[in-house]
Amino acid sequence: MEKRGSFASRFGVIAAMAGSAVGVGNIWKFPYMVGDNGGSAFIITYLLISLLITAPVLIAEMSLGRMGGQNVLGTFRTLAPKQKAWQGVGWLGLITAFVILSFYSVIAGWSLAFIKDSVIGSFAGKDVAQITADFNGFIASGWQPVAWAIFFLVLTCLIAGSGLQKGIERSSKLLMPLLAVLLIVLVVRSFFLSGFGESVNFLVKPDFSKITPNVMVAALGQSFFSLSVGMGTMLTYGSYVSKKESIVDVVTNVLIADVIIALLAGFAIFPAVFTFDINPTSGPDLVFLTLPSLFAQISGGQIMSILFFVLLFFAAITSAFSLLEVVVAYVTEELKLKRRAAVLVSFVGLAILATLCAMSQMPESALRLGSRNLFDTFDLVSSNVMLPLGGLLIVLFWAWKLPKKRVEEEITNNGTCSTKIFGVLYFLLRYIVPVALVIMFISLNS
Ligand code: TRP
Repeated sequence: MEKRGSFASRFGVIAAMAGSAVGVGNIWKFPYMVGDNGGSAFIITYLLISLLITAPVLIAEMSLGRMGGQNVLGTFRTLAPKQKAWQGVGWLGLITAFVILSFYSVIAGWSLAFIKDSVIGSFAGKDVAQITADFNGFIASGWQPVAWAIFFLVLTCLIAGSGLQKGIERSSKLLMPLLAVLLIVLVVRSFFLSGFGESVNFLVKPDFSKITPNVMVAALGQSFFSLSVGMGTMLTYGSYVSKKESIVDVVTNVLIADVIIALLAGFAIFPAVFTFDINPTSGPDLVFLTLPSLFAQISGGQIMSILFFVLLFFAAITSAFSLLEVVVAYVTEELKLKRRAAVLVSFVGLAILATLCAMSQMPESALRLGSRNLFDTFDLVSSNVMLPLGGLLIVLFWAWKLPKKRVEEEITNNGTCSTKIFGVLYFLLRYIVPVALVIMFISLNS
């Protein structure tokens, strides 16, 4: 078997984990969720939930990985040797990785197609109606989104295949700072749009009456997705983290990065939305239809458009590494293949699923489950069922199955760090978080 990899530096750990967290969820999903769920009310709820629920689960998940020092399945096998049922969490994680990565590649593929369109100037002078028609034609062709999704998977696999440190860690250290710079450039440009003031009102001025149970549930689901929690991604990355690192510190950095990038994405996008009097609740279309038509009308729009979709691509690929790694770690450690072979095997499976996802969006496609096409089903089922379920099981395992002493030693590095916060963390994970997750789970699926 190959020697097990590990991240080389602290910055590398944070870049890789923030790279996982910051993704399509921050740049595409967060802004439209904010728009759909009442602006600042959603943001406040989101911040509180991320701090009190999601971040503790992330800490638990990462610490399990570091305790087990293996892939998801091996970790549960080692930590609960006599209770095979817990390995089901590992299986759930592996399946979820395939499900998320297949529709994720389709969205990431769109961002690549939009980079090309921005570069050749094909949005110039078009309004929303024309851009919508173009996009519908693109989806209906079937082969175009398939080709872009596969191209995205090839890029992801080539980089991830070249190694944990050389591929994933190195590119995350480069792409994450670049992503931050690109986003700041976009926010500065948005500052000069006339809609900036209105968007500040929308995003910052609290209106507590808008915080409803639905908003809370939406915020919890979004927070899980955005912080890559609930399927073993952070567990797998945690297994590559040195025993000297403080898990609480790393997670604090990742949380801050993830939240700031999501908020900045809001400040990059909404000023344009308000400047052109567009309804902020335009949903998933916000980034792919509304934005290009706005860029087509502002000065410097073409450059902005290129920067924006490059940014989305960077965000997507560093997240895709982490999803892929769950599968690759499993295949190398459990099925004893070399890393490159493991990546190749995963690629074949993912390419097939991504193809089905993209084709399912063609009009009159037969690739449906009930009333939804495969793409929408995968998106919905992963966020609403698989992640909360996985998260709940991970928390129950951490807080109720493992002895307190064991988790305490792991979180505090044998009493040398995070000792004060451990008590709070343990209380949250033992009582508050499971109850919150069960409530969310029931209300999401009823
Ligand atoms: N967090 C990423 C985003 O915001 C997506 C992602 C990567 C993810 N790994 C994950 C989501 C694991 C859920 C579980 O786009």
